[in-house]
Parts: sequence; structure tokens; C-alpha cells
Amino acid sequence: MEKKNIDWANLGFGYIQTDKRYVSDYKDGAWDAGRLTDDATVTISECAGVLQYAQTVFEGLKAYTTEDGHIVCFRPDLNAERIENSAKRLEMPVFPKDRFIEAVDEVVKANAAYVPPYGSGATFYLRPYMFGTNPVIGVKPANEYQFRMFGTPVGPYFKGGAKPLTIKVSDFDRAAPNGTGHIKAGLNYAMSLHAIVTAHNEGFDENMYLDPATRTKVEETGGANFLFVTKDGKVVTPKSSSILPSITRRSLVVVAKEYLGLEAEEREITLEEVKDFAECGLCGTAAVISPVGKIVDHGKEICLPSGMQEMGPVTKKLYDTLTGIQMGRIEDKFGWVRKIV
Ligand code: PLP
Ligand code: COI
Repeated sequence: MEKKNIDWANLGFGYIQTDKRYVSDYKDGAWDAGRLTDDATVTISECAGVLQYAQTVFEGLKAYTTEDGHIVCFRPDLNAERIENSAKRLEMPVFPKDRFIEAVDEVVKANAAYVPPYGSGATFYLRPYMFGTNPVIGVKPANEYQFRMFGTPVGPYFKGGAKPLTIKVSDFDRAAPNGTGHIKAGLNYAMSLHAIVTAHNEGFDENMYLDPATRTKVEETGGANFLFVTKDGKVVTPKSSSILPSITRRSLVVVAKEYLGLEAEEREITLEEVKDFAECGLCGTAAVISPVGKIVDHGKEICLPSGMQEMGPVTKKLYDTLTGIQMGRIEDKFGWVRKIV
């Protein structure tokens, strides 16, 4: 199969239309058989539930070309489970897990020419999502839905690749206690847009959101979980019921313990103790692990000792091990990698 003529090494995190995407419609209480389509547009009622009341949830996962030339994806079962939880929280029907994984396979196979080659630095990002399609004017769930999944080749999420980021402690809150912070709903991202534009305008790369109830504990950023390393080399990540349960973060905790022999702990982390950490990174499918060099709390700078030049040593080991597993260079001890091609 001949690859598309794309400048893989210089891709940013953007959308490139690929050949095929997967669509399935839900009506009268059931999903149809689903199909691949060439049509990259969606036509729905002007009064569709998604347009009026933001009834939409999504996922993000990647396909990788391995060192030996296969195309694989990483833990798609967890994305299927998470979109199930997201759907239930927004009163949407569940798209079955086995069908979700089949759709991943189909979209990747049909667009294999767009899956970046091994070693190019780029990956193939898959975006599964579903939304209410029928007219809804009173506030209630739709009863017709569409599930779609497209893919697009992407480069690094943050401009500058692996250069450490500067993060702003945000004055805005991301997710209320008992709200929707733990699910991947479009509404969580809509409300973050003003905060991220504000942060960017002030020269920051991302926001650190705090727990809204006390504003003393570290939650996450707009699109990734935090990971910290203590001065004695222990990996710690925030525990909170209002952050997205990142598949990358959950995998890194296992990588830290089972591959690298490090201690790793998920626990509440206060803003106050951030100054004592040795390293900080943002982890997620899009972010992979992006190092953080500086966190700014209303003019007060917290400079991580790992610095603004490169990833800290533990972060780098975690990054190399995780991407090594994903790209077939390191043994997949836990059956996380799914071979597609
Ligand atoms: N947190 C938020 C708010 C996100 O949007 C994402 C991206 O999916 C993550 C964390 C990281 O999750 P994952 O590692 O499953 O991609
Ligand atoms: C992902 O990492 O898959 C996400 O959905 C994050 C998003 C901000 C691009």
C-alpha cells in the first residue's frame, strides 16, 4: 500500500480529511449495522439535541506503525468503556464495545495510506463520537443518535514538540464536584475555550484547573492529566472524581511500577506541594507525555528543577517505555496493543 504524500515530520495536531469514516445510526431503540462512508459531512435537523443542548460525547485514540511494519492501536477497549460511561451520564444509548473496536479496525484499514510511517514522529489519531440527531426543544434526551469515527494523521499536540510547557493556574473551574468532569463530553471542552484562549493570550501553553470546591487541589488541564515525579523518584498523579480517567495516565502508572520498578501513587495533590516536585508532565493520547517546566500561580512562578530545556529523566523513561510499547520496540507485557494490519 502506497502512503499519501504528506510531510509527516511537520504535521501539527490538526484535521486532514481522510478517505473513509465509520457511521452508525440509532433509531427506534437500536443501532443499525453501521458502514464506512466517503461522506465527511453530517446533515441533521436544525433542532437536533446536539445543537440545542450539547448532547455529545467523544473519544480519542491513536494507531501507530510499529518497527516491524504493522499498524496497531493502544487499549481501544478502554476507550470503548469510557465512551459507554460518558454516554450513560448524558442519557445516550451505549455503542457496543465489540462494535467500537471493529469500527477502529475498519477505519484504520480503510485509511492505511494516511497512517504515518514508523519513525516519522507522527501518528494516526482516531476520533470516535456520538450525538443526538433528532429535534429536541424541551430539555430532554434525544431518541435518535449517530455514532461516527474518523481518523487523521497528527503530529505533536503542543507546538515545539518536547519542549517544556508553561502552565497557568486558572481562575476558571473546569468541572464541578458531582458534575461531568470524569466523562468525555463536548460540553467540558466548550466551557474550557474561554479559559484556554485567555491563557494563550497571556503566553501560557495550558491551564492547570484546581478543584472548584476548595481551589487547593490539582485537577488536570483542558486536555490532559498531570503526572509529577517527587525528588526521590516516585511517580504521583492526582486522584479526583472530577478529572477524566486518562488511559495514558493509567497506563503510565503501570509502566512506572511494572516496567521501571518505580513507586507510583494516585492521590490528592495540593497546589501547595507542587513546588516540591522534581518533574511534571501532561499525559494523554494527544499530549503523550509533554513535559512542564513552569507553573505560574497569579504571578508566583513554580519552576520545576528539571528545567525548560528538556524532559526530566523519569518523564523521559516513562515516555520512552510507553511509546516503545506502542511502536513495538518494547514487549507488550499486558496485552495492551491491538494489531490491526
Ligand atoms: N484529560 C482530558 C480533559 C482529556 O481531554 C484527555 C484526552 O483524552 C485526557 C485527560 C487524557 O486521556 P487519555 O490518556 O485517555 O487520552
Ligand atoms: C485526546 O488526547 O485524545 C484528547 O481528546 C485531548 C484533546 C484535547 C485533543
